[in-house]
Amino acid sequence: MTVDKGYVDAPVPEGIDLAAEIRRLKKEKNAVVLAHYYQNGDIQDIADHVGDSLAMAQYAATLKDAKIIVVCGVHFMGETAKLLCPDKKVLIPDMNAGCSLADSCPPDAFEAFIKAHPGHTVVSYVNTSVGVKALTDIVVTSGNARKVIDSLPADEKIIFGPDRNLGNYINSRTGRSMLLWDGACHVHELFSAEKIAALKEAHPEAKVLVHPECKRALTLMADCVGSTAALLDYARKSDAKEFIVATESGILHEMRRLCPDKTFIPAPPSDSTCACNDCAFMKLITMEKLYNTLRYELPEIHIDPAIADSARRPIERMLSLS
Ligand code: 13P
Ligand code: SF4
Repeated sequence: MTVDKGYVDAPVPEGIDLAAEIRRLKKEKNAVVLAHYYQNGDIQDIADHVGDSLAMAQYAATLKDAKIIVVCGVHFMGETAKLLCPDKKVLIPDMNAGCSLADSCPPDAFEAFIKAHPGHTVVSYVNTSVGVKALTDIVVTSGNARKVIDSLPADEKIIFGPDRNLGNYINSRTGRSMLLWDGACHVHELFSAEKIAALKEAHPEAKVLVHPECKRALTLMADCVGSTAALLDYARKSDAKEFIVATESGILHEMRRLCPDKTFIPAPPSDSTCACNDCAFMKLITMEKLYNTLRYELPEIHIDPAIADSARRPIERMLSLS
């Protein structure tokens, strides 16, 4: 079986119960399925563990007995799991599931940026390639960025990449002036502050939940700024009944499951003719591809052994602080 297209392009037998077959294969092959909150609802429902990128990394690091880990998320999440579990087979149902933010920071250009600013500690968001992590002193996620930065001495000079919005947000909350790489996520950049303000007028009691990859104008109007897990937690604990949600739409599945009596309104993107608050990369993962991945144990994530240790170290440093 080849994966020339980046996924197993094999027909799924007609009439099978996909969910039941996936469960059977997971058991038979001692496989664990990890899914991100931005995955389609059916994938989240069948996963063994659903979380934000921090929880996915933390969970992968604890897996002792599983033989196979299937990462239903984007490529850097698969790489993180492989770095933390080098002896396990780590699979991703579609290798084409990239990340525009990770792509906005090519390792050679980032290396030149670091060399042009000597004497800085390099902090990278987990949404980066292995090549960028290998140039990094400490990795962060949106769930722990503030805590990790706060743990560094106040006068430490810091380069932060690749997300300028998350970097700006952390600078504003910590009083630091980290030097920022100029990258962004194409999904979170597109949310419109004007449209959220209009929604807020129509729903004055609604709380506004914003992921820190969004622009500053959005974080300024938010009741809660946080990772997907932090936004979920806020929604769960809040007395409010309505929430305007400015992050990828997949999170609504878990919000509605956990809080069936509350209303979640997806924030509209600036161009209302598109579904741009969907991450097209995340949505490449389907039940059919997950089934074929378990069946054929493909495609598999491999890490260049020459940089694996250097890329693992900053993730382990992050986990030890989280
Ligand atoms: P979380 O760290 O909140 O899971 O975010 C990951 C991500 O890709 C956001 O776009
Ligand atoms: Fe990357 Fe943005 Fe998709 Fe998150 S939503 S995986 S940052 S492209």
